[in-house]
Amino acid sequence: MADPKIIAVIGATGAQGGGLVRAILRDKNGGFAARAVTRNPGSDKAKALAKAGAEVVVADTGDQKTVERAFAGAHGAFCVTNFWEHFSPERELADATNMAKAAKQAGVRHVIWSTLEDTRKWVPLSDNRMPTLQGKYKVPHFDGKGEADDVFRKLGVPITFLLTSFYWENLIFFGSGPKRGPDGKLAITFPMDDKKLPAIAVEDIGKVAYAIFKRGQEFIGKTVAISGEQLTGAQIAAALTRALGEDVRYNAVPPDVYRGFGFPGADDLGNMFQVKRDFQEAFCGPRDPKIARGLNAELQTFDQWLKENKGRIPLE
Ligand SMILES: NC(=O)c1ccc[n+]([C@@H]2O[C@H](COP(=O)([O-])OP(=O)(O)OC[C@H]3O[C@@H](n4cnc5c(N)ncnc54)[C@H](OP(=O)(O)O)[C@@H]3O)[C@@H](O)[C@H]2O)c1
Repeated sequence: MADPKIIAVIGATGAQGGGLVRAILRDKNGGFAARAVTRNPGSDKAKALAKAGAEVVVADTGDQKTVERAFAGAHGAFCVTNFWEHFSPERELADATNMAKAAKQAGVRHVIWSTLEDTRKWVPLSDNRMPTLQGKYKVPHFDGKGEADDVFRKLGVPITFLLTSFYWENLIFFGSGPKRGPDGKLAITFPMDDKKLPAIAVEDIGKVAYAIFKRGQEFIGKTVAISGEQLTGAQIAAALTRALGEDVRYNAVPPDVYRGFGFPGADDLGNMFQVKRDFQEAFCGPRDPKIARGLNAELQTFDQWLKENKGRIPLE
């Protein structure tokens, strides 16, 4: 049998990259091998990946040379940045540039860049419906990623742009889950009115990415936009009510109120939800769940995700 094609996975110890590594390792005869890239091979997550059969290598996306070494000999590379570690779109752009240059230098044959839209194509800085943040962004954690798309393009990297969606895991880890009001009743709060939020189980992102690597050539130069299901706040609340066996209300607040909640990134997320609300067709249309389902037959609906995960949602 030919040597397996190595996929170097940035963010392997994290949610998106971890899903990809697990998808590769599960498919024992798929012809691919997982190279997990981390800054810290001694972490529990890195050790677990090594135990599961991944090759673990060290690199920091802030240092191009280390990424070049991590990509050497790889057929594919999955590239992701972690905005929430530093809140800096400039740093995401710099990290993406390092990964793009490293992929080019190492001769990687297929790169997947986990990206999001540059929302300024819909809401120019002069549009006062939402504040401009950090001087030149509307949704910093989207805009920096979208801006980086061009870096991969201009360097001629064989690239697939993967437009991801809101993780349902945000209900567990990101403070987006139901909270008890003063009346003791549970409610979820989004500034989306009656509009739909495309969302996905994060493990499905990795499964889709693996399918893209397997199908290869047909996706080079393409954008693949994914979600598992697109539900309104009221539908999310109804599904939570069914799963938890306790009433969950949907509290639709204006974006300005959400931006004022004061937690780190509230302004960025308030703008993000407003973009999803105001540009519903442009945002939801390309993320038709049929696309993700065509690549990953195991794609979960929200109800399916809840069945497995409802016990992990903190009910404060
Ligand atoms: N939450 C959502 O709903 C959502 C939806 C769509 C997109 N996103 C985007 O997803 C991104 C985060 O992805 P995730 O959720 O998969 O991450 P995560 O679970 O928070 O883990 C972060 C990963 O990034 C790696 N990493 C961070 N900085 C690095 C560096 N300088 N060099 C090498 N590796 C580095 C970490 O590896 P080590 O620590 O092991 O080095 C870790 O594996 C964010 O940019 C966010 O905007 C989030």
